[in-house]
Amino acid sequence: MFITLEGIEGSGKTTQLENIVEFMNDRHYEYVVTREPGGTAIGKEIRAILLSPDTKNLNSLTELLLYAADRAQHVKEVIIPTLDSGKTVICDRFFDATTAYQGFARGLDMKQIKILHEIILGSLKPDITLLFDLPPETGLKRAWTQINNGGRSENETRFEKEMISFHEKVRKGYLKIADTEHERFHVIDASKNVDQVKKAIIDILSDKMP
Ligand code: TMP
Repeated sequence: MFITLEGIEGSGKTTQLENIVEFMNDRHYEYVVTREPGGTAIGKEIRAILLSPDTKNLNSLTELLLYAADRAQHVKEVIIPTLDSGKTVICDRFFDATTAYQGFARGLDMKQIKILHEIILGSLKPDITLLFDLPPETGLKRAWTQINNGGRSENETRFEKEMISFHEKVRKGYLKIADTEHERFHVIDASKNVDQVKKAIIDILSDKMP
């Protein structure tokens, strides 16, 4: 089983990852938790370039290709071997993030993005994608509170510094993708409190996990 988590900045997906892990442990599932970018040693170096606020003048195409490079390594080194071993993969962001951020928000050519996905993924696709949806104003407020409290790294704020209109495009992009794949996507109202969001996730996983 391959589970991915998606959402804009401050959507709470990383917090809810702990609840998913608790669910997996309670049910004695074997799993690996990973993320993009940065799910491998090489990916961690790529992540530092992509998320650092000191990275200036990064061309949108270069940004796309760096996410693609991170994913190519991650798929080969972590995701496929883990799935082949029979374990579940839980991944904090995956290819839908590229469609939402580099496609819908940056405005790069969707056909080229699709070709890159085909090259990197082949037939690999998540079984379940949890989309944490909330207004960007709420998400960014949460994200900046965490950054200012030291709960999130200041060295990874390049996207948080984007205009609200950028995050609005990401949100709408994610919702459009979700609308084309009702079976795989589960849109969760992430503006609700932590316990309500947790319950929504557990209901979905209880229903979908074998
Ligand atoms: P996060 O680890 O805090 O979620 O940060 C990852 C950032 O990278 C987030 O702002 C979304 C962005 N991103 C893309 O723009 N494209 C991608 O393909 C992925 C995986 C992430």
